[in-house]
Amino acid sequence: MKTLVILAHPNMTTSRVNRRWKKELEQHPDEVNIHELYKAYPDWNIDIAHEQELLEAHDHIILQFPFYWYSYPPLLKKWLDEVFTHGWAYGSKGNRLHGKRMGLAITIGDQRENYGKGQPVGFSVEELIAPFKASMNHVGVTALPHYAVFGASFQASDEEINHSAEAYIQYIKAFK
Ligand SMILES: Cc1cc2nc3c(=O)[nH]c(=O)nc-3n(C[C@H](O)[C@H](O)[C@H](O)COP(=O)(O)O)c2cc1C
Repeated sequence: MKTLVILAHPNMTTSRVNRRWKKELEQHPDEVNIHELYKAYPDWNIDIAHEQELLEAHDHIILQFPFYWYSYPPLLKKWLDEVFTHGWAYGSKGNRLHGKRMGLAITIGDQRENYGKGQPVGFSVEELIAPFKASMNHVGVTALPHYAVFGASFQASDEEINHSAEAYIQYIKAFK
């Protein structure tokens, strides 16, 4: 079964890293289905039934996005709010995601050394994504280790970004 990558970037035309990662994913059509939220829903009117069908058809799901204010871009938050419904994802009869595996692939603008206790950001990425893990626990999904590239705004060289794209597909394969 293929991996479903839910890609949420509000402006892929100006993106450097997510665009490169997407290009890498496109070279593995037998392994990955890419679903771009901002492209599918320019009006932000999410087709909930379609999104639930997509999720039900995959056991391994990656949410790919740029880190925005230590969190997701807003359409991805809306997607979570609307698609993970009571009676479908949680509640006494909500078991449709049970047993699936989900991971985050995050492009992070700031440099690695600025994250962590005593550093300018004050928290590690692991700590900042705790709401995602709690959400996965709530809907019976195994939260996989995340994949991230730092320095995605300016510091990362083209070579580093190319390397991160190759490592990204390896990350996907490792948790299939
Ligand atoms: C609205 C906004 C919020 C951002 N917030 C953060 C942040 O909290 N932490 C961080 O390290 N980078 C932050 N950045 C930088 C982005 O993470 C970075 O530009 C992006 O990951 C680069 O990927 P791209 O080339 O695919 O756009 C932010 C950028 C924008 C536009």
